[in-house]
Amino acid sequence: MDIGLTGKNVVVTGAGRSIGQEIAIGFAEVGANVIGVDIIDLGETGEKVTAAGGAWSAHSADLEDPSSVEAACKNIMADNKSIDALVNNAALYGGLKMMPMDKIDLDVWDKVMNINVRGTYLVVRNLMPALIEAKGKIVNIASGSALRGSPGLMHYVASKGAVIGMTRSMATELGGHGVTVNAVAPGFVANEASQGLTDDMYDKYLEMTVMAQSIKEPTEPKDMVGTILYLTSPLANSVTGQVCPVDNGLCKT
Ligand SMILES: NC(=O)c1ccc[n+]([C@@H]2O[C@H](COP(=O)([O-])OP(=O)(O)OC[C@H]3O[C@@H](n4cnc5c(N)ncnc54)[C@H](O)[C@@H]3O)[C@@H](O)[C@H]2O)c1
Repeated sequence: MDIGLTGKNVVVTGAGRSIGQEIAIGFAEVGANVIGVDIIDLGETGEKVTAAGGAWSAHSADLEDPSSVEAACKNIMADNKSIDALVNNAALYGGLKMMPMDKIDLDVWDKVMNINVRGTYLVVRNLMPALIEAKGKIVNIASGSALRGSPGLMHYVASKGAVIGMTRSMATELGGHGVTVNAVAPGFVANEASQGLTDDMYDKYLEMTVMAQSIKEPTEPKDMVGTILYLTSPLANSVTGQVCPVDNGLCKT
């Protein structure tokens, strides 16, 4: 089925691994041209996107550094006739550890905010002219943890709450330009980053999460893809400012 993404230029941040990599492959499979952005090497994603039949280009950027974001976005706009969609997936998640709120290092708090909130904002701000020109679509990756108020990750949860607030505000500001802005809120996804977060409690945590879900299956990185393809396609032209949990029914909004 052609869902209207064939030949569209789509930017995916944090495309280097896991959820971002699956999103990039998903876009390739429906005929989009994928523009990957990450601070880590994008070689593996490039190979997988190309194998899936998608056109691919890679841009290195550190979302914590405003000048790095600006330079990458300038290059992306110079290299591409249009930017039809943007998925703000990059975030500081892998590498974080669960801990009580009074133990969070303030430097780590700032880093989480700078990457997850300001970095997301800066990518949108820098690509805005092209997204407005194309009447494009933006999907911000939030987190169900901000909807559920999950414990042990106060800085990360606060940053994803901010992503939800920005999504609604961006939808209002950009709606007049024909740009839609929505958020996808993954639940607890079974991947390396989640494993690192919970260390030796991972199996227990995953089991408890699955038990709390309506559908008793672990949520996998590739489970995000369908909803993101929908929200960036013409099928969702009238959908904006929404937060969509993708979590096997862990969270009901
Ligand atoms: N895994 C989960 O359970 C889960 C749950 C809810 C939301 N999410 C969100 O989904 C998205 C993907 O998460 P994931 O599980 O694949 O995590 P991950 O840590 O494996 O991937 C994050 C990606 O962002 C990139 N990134 C990090 N810092 C960056 C920076 N300064 N500049 C540029 N790129 C940077 C990383 O290199 C990586 O490719 C994130 O927004 C995360 O917050 C994940």
